[in-house]
Amino acid sequence: KRQRRERLLGLLERTAAFYVRVLWESPEAADARAYLASRGLDEGALRAYRVGFAPEAWDRVVVGSRRAGYSEAELLAAGLGQRSSRGTLIDRFHGRITFPLADERGRVLGFGARAMKPDQKPKYLNTSEGELFHKGRIVYGADLARAAAAKAGRVVLVEGYTDVIALHQAGVPEVVAQMGTALTDAQVDAIARLAPKALFCQDPDRAGQESVAKGIAALRVHNKGRTTRAVEFRIVRLPAGQDPADVVQQSGGDALRALLEKAVAIEKFEVERALASPDASTDEMLATVAPIIAPMSASILKDELVALVAGRLGMGENLVNEALRQPFTAA
Ligand code: UTP
Ligand code: MN
Ligand code: MN
Ligand code: MN
Ligand code: MN
Repeated sequence: KRQRRERLLGLLERTAAFYVRVLWESPEAADARAYLASRGLDEGALRAYRVGFAPEAWDRVVVGSRRAGYSEAELLAAGLGQRSSRGTLIDRFHGRITFPLADERGRVLGFGARAMKPDQKPKYLNTSEGELFHKGRIVYGADLARAAAAKAGRVVLVEGYTDVIALHQAGVPEVVAQMGTALTDAQVDAIARLAPKALFCQDPDRAGQESVAKGIAALRVHNKGRTTRAVEFRIVRLPAGQDPADVVQQSGGDALRALLEKAVAIEKFEVERALASPDASTDEMLATVAPIIAPMSASILKDELVALVAGRLGMGENLVNEALRQPFTAA
């Protein structure tokens, strides 16, 4: 059993190295190299994350691995092979930029693979859930973020592979990605092992904002009643239409780092969101913000939030404070 696992890990490792060689050495990967350069990602950072390229051919990985002594069953178990319609074993990844997905110790468990052309679907094809690989159990980049996160005392949580590499390159090596899905409990635990503080830096679109809301809920569950390894978290807000990698490319690393320093407390994020709701009445807004602000102990942040509500609703701060003391029922 143990030996089988070691063999699968070896197969994944050599495949990661193969994809890296193809990316930097094969004429076939010229477009991929140009594409990555056009994204502003440099060779040093790409090599650190072992980004590679899966050739177009049907079965380069299958043939090479078979020659090295791996069985068809092992190729399937590692998620590197699949059955063609004719029943032969072929590669899973074709003509895609590959991102090895490793555990906290840097052992490759699977791949995310980006399409190069707009008609290639899905945009990212990942290793399917299997014997070794469970997307919800890892955060991307944890192995490379570990030392930096311990030193910085914080970890930055982004959505995607390219965000991680761009931030690393921009001088923020304490970065990991949840890989586009809702934050799982196992991912929260992985974050808690990296640092006591997390900055949520998700894409400023609908999916990203939903992800923030779910992440807040997951972190609250994790923190509830906890005395050790609680995670303090703040929200980073990005300019409309730009994910973290876009900010780095368009405005530079300094701009991105400045946005990280302006991260806001969860309560502020939630109050601002409630106040921005376009068709809520004053009563409705008060009903939404009251359960956020009322339980807070006296603090500068609490005063700031009361002032924010007062300003937005055109009420005096005393009136807001009084309203917050009333027991509320949602309108
Ligand atoms: P995004 O759609 O935000 O992509 O998905 P991205 O990371 O900004 O990638 P670029 O800039 O277009 O290259 C965020 C993350 O969600 C996962 C991937 O982990 C991706 O990095 N995802 C997204 C998938 O697994 N499959 C998909 O089809 C799309
Ligand atoms: Mn996104
Ligand atoms: Mn937990
Ligand atoms: Mn992006
Ligand atoms: Mn994105």
